[in-house]
Amino acid sequence: MKATPPSPRCYALLPCAGSGSRAGAARPKQYQPVAGVPMVRHTLAAFTAVPRMARVLVVVAPGDEALQPPDAAVSIVPCGGATRAESVFNGLNALLAQGAAAHDWVLVHDAARCLITPALIGALIDACLPDAVGGLLALPLADTLKQEGADGRAAATIDRAGKWLAQTPQMFRIGLLRDALAAHAAGGFAGITDEASAVQAAGHRPLLVRGSAQNLKVTYPEDLVMAEIILRNRGV
Ligand code: C5P
Repeated sequence: MKATPPSPRCYALLPCAGSGSRAGAARPKQYQPVAGVPMVRHTLAAFTAVPRMARVLVVVAPGDEALQPPDAAVSIVPCGGATRAESVFNGLNALLAQGAAAHDWVLVHDAARCLITPALIGALIDACLPDAVGGLLALPLADTLKQEGADGRAAATIDRAGKWLAQTPQMFRIGLLRDALAAHAAGGFAGITDEASAVQAAGHRPLLVRGSAQNLKVTYPEDLVMAEIILRNRGV
């Protein structure tokens, strides 16, 4: 009799190794306080509150000791790279070295997207688990899109129909994503700004799962203010 293969587990991988210069602060943005605690703590709290998450791996820069694991389900790995894609690639290799299987799922999520909720994470898992490829949270483009010309002025208006803004988490099989990223390692991961772009370049079509306008990535100083207001409004 053939043994039934174990059902795939879900892991979270949080790239947290950026320098965050656009947020305008001396310390990396993922450690800036929002509602009283470093941003990444809110992100971690959302993932550790999801019962289906087997483990959360946080990728920090080599030598970064700012973050201590809040519990045994979280590991901090100092394998951050020069780009976000390299940090994710190194984190996937760490997950595999820690015993994750190639057919297990990984949800990659920016540490700086600290407004993610367990409900949104659950919605992505529900949509992707039965899918052959996996997918990402994204939002249909609401604004009119302009193409800048060489003079810095609006040169063209791009049709926004069918355009989505990619968010995270992005959920794929660990083996598929690792192989998709490996194909870009020699080129310094040029053009790979999210996991889905690597998976698409490998010939797949990720699912677009509706995210939330509140799932913003803190990038500029004003985003910090917005994140603070939303968290306080949630009673955090
Ligand atoms: O800079 P950006 O907004 O694209 O960063 C998105 C996420 O990727 C952040 O959580 C940041 O810490 C992480 N990152 C990383 N390694 C890098 C650059 C960014 O883990 N080399």
